[in-house]
Amino acid sequence: MSNETRKILVTSALPYANGPIHIGHLVEYIQTDIWVRFQKQRGHTCHYVCADDAHGTPIMLRAQQEGITPEQLIADTWTQHHADFQDFNVGFDNFYTTHSDETRDFAELIYNRLYDQQYIHSKTITQAYDPVKEMFLPDRFIKGECPKCGAADQYGDNCEVCGATYSPTDLVNPVSAISGEKPIDKESEHYFFKLGDFEAMLKEWTHSGHLQEQVANKLSEWFEVGLQDWDISRDAPYFGFEIPNAPGKFFYVWLDAPVGYMGSFKNLCDKENLDFDEYWAKDSTTELYHFIGKDIVYFHALFWPAMLTGAGFRTPTAIFSHGFLTVNGEKMSKSRGTFIKARTYLDHLNPEYLRYYFAAKLSGRVEDIDLNFEDFSQRVNTDLVNKVVNIASRCSGFINKRFNGQLSSSCSEAELFQSFVAESDPIAALYESREYGKAMRAISTLADKANQYIDEKQPWVVAKQDNCDDELHAICSVGINLFYLLASYLKPVVPEMVSKAERFLNTGELPWPDQLAPLTDHTIHKFKPLMTRVDTDKLAALIEASKENLEKTPDASQKKAPQKTTDDLAGTIEFDDFAKVDLRVALIEKAEHVEEADKLLRLTLSLGDEKRQVLAGIKSAYSPAELEGRLTVMVANLKPRKMRFGVSEGMVLAAGPGGNELWILSPDSGAKPGMRIK
Ligand code: MSP
Ligand code: ZN
Repeated sequence: MSNETRKILVTSALPYANGPIHIGHLVEYIQTDIWVRFQKQRGHTCHYVCADDAHGTPIMLRAQQEGITPEQLIADTWTQHHADFQDFNVGFDNFYTTHSDETRDFAELIYNRLYDQQYIHSKTITQAYDPVKEMFLPDRFIKGECPKCGAADQYGDNCEVCGATYSPTDLVNPVSAISGEKPIDKESEHYFFKLGDFEAMLKEWTHSGHLQEQVANKLSEWFEVGLQDWDISRDAPYFGFEIPNAPGKFFYVWLDAPVGYMGSFKNLCDKENLDFDEYWAKDSTTELYHFIGKDIVYFHALFWPAMLTGAGFRTPTAIFSHGFLTVNGEKMSKSRGTFIKARTYLDHLNPEYLRYYFAAKLSGRVEDIDLNFEDFSQRVNTDLVNKVVNIASRCSGFINKRFNGQLSSSCSEAELFQSFVAESDPIAALYESREYGKAMRAISTLADKANQYIDEKQPWVVAKQDNCDDELHAICSVGINLFYLLASYLKPVVPEMVSKAERFLNTGELPWPDQLAPLTDHTIHKFKPLMTRVDTDKLAALIEASKENLEKTPDASQKKAPQKTTDDLAGTIEFDDFAKVDLRVALIEKAEHVEEADKLLRLTLSLGDEKRQVLAGIKSAYSPAELEGRLTVMVANLKPRKMRFGVSEGMVLAAGPGGNELWILSPDSGAKPGMRIK
């Protein structure tokens, strides 16, 4: 690695604008942010850009469902995403949107250049079409019975019950997930990008150091299968950019999404007077890195370099791909409370805990990483709070009380200090190669050394001896100086904690430790706790707050909601647990539609002397009129839940697989509202 100042442009994948940021996403944004902060701390010029990925069918439909325009939806989401990133200290130099003039201009430019060189061709294809909604249906908006096990209500690509994978045309009794209508086949002209024309270029590019080995190997498999033409157009209605000279045809969201990297950077260039071409021209000597998840490698390692090459731009220096987050060894799950939104996390815990924990777990490989809550508390408490923060608190008290906040005039342990500085190259190499876990271990080893020094010197004993002021001063000053180096090493990972440390040390922004000499004759400030231990009650509250009401309407997010597995339901309960459930006979006095909710009815239930409002997901099975005046069974002591459409004060019991196959339970005649069920 050269010591000269590098010019680097870094991106993280653009989050979809129709859902909240969750801790899975944060693996990527935190991984990238640490890398960028590290580069900046080392004195390099580094720009970090991102944006919301604002186009596509799911966003269009989501907006319709909420009764707002897509522009309104993406603006609201942008505000939330922006706040989430800021509060996690993800320091984008620009967080923009793909729904921007800059992105449109570059998308058109790239398309036109590809078109002019005949890399685009059109052909008529047949697709599923919703005759009621009058739109073509993406695979994930077709539902039906699984061709293998017959389970109802399965999506067009795989069965959540038996796990079979298939194509939407295999579904038995397919229906549009939007209108419920049977789709018809309809022809339409589509535009295709001839990826195959770039095979030689891609084979060369993907095997010349731009990709991790695991990724390059995966690509070899794809080359063997053969590169297919890529369908880059979608028919109206679609929320996106219209294709030049093709009225009613829009760029598929994945065509303009990576172009959003350019759009966001262009927007930054205009604000900060930077030279766009210096970073994107074909002959650029700057570095360009994309951090992405393993699920979107195909787009970044094949389509994107091919598009850039075809349109006469530079290709990325490297693509860094990471694995997926699991929680306690399993896929994030709404019912287990492990589908944790960034905002819910922030409401309960310090974001730097998670930054440190992810750093401790991350490597440069494409491996999944697991968040285990016990491990989480332990690592943060032991490695960060006990080992690092404590050094400062142990030494600063004496410096402030006995030496007026002044450090000694020379460092009595120059060699020890130097041995910490000597790790700066190896630790830098670990950060550079995204081996953050190894970097955290190396830093932890240094922290052990610092603690060992203090334990041996026993300043608290020295403090009680006569005529030992100089010795005490020397020991505590060394302790503070070692802490100074540790803080500098940790700055990319826990920037807020280190910024508090910088104030305490009275130093200004810490550079990388190879630039540091011992602080001597230097006044420090009073120590204030830099970080407290993980509060396990708050951790438990976070998990509780993340458990979602399963009655809630599932949202049409871009990715499928994590599937509910049978083990969510497994396990026996004690009789006492059962006895806690207060089941009552209830009279449905009133049933009404909930505006905008496609699954819910609002029921007013009478328990004799008491009334309850319950939002029940039974709209597809019952019309309000069928329900009014009926007796049913309800859970009367369920904690009230605030849902999007109001508070639900209990639950009505029903049987069946769901959708229109659902039957609410009723007592035999004679039962009266309010009666307890035993
Ligand atoms: N919009 C596309 C990316 C376009 S880039 C030109 C997209 N969006 S996403 O919101 O689904 O994901 C954004 C990033 O977060 C992706 O890199 C994805 O891999 C990553 N992650 C989403 N869920 C994740 C986990 N559970 N774990 C780790 N990373 C995850 O894809
Ligand atoms: Zn099945």
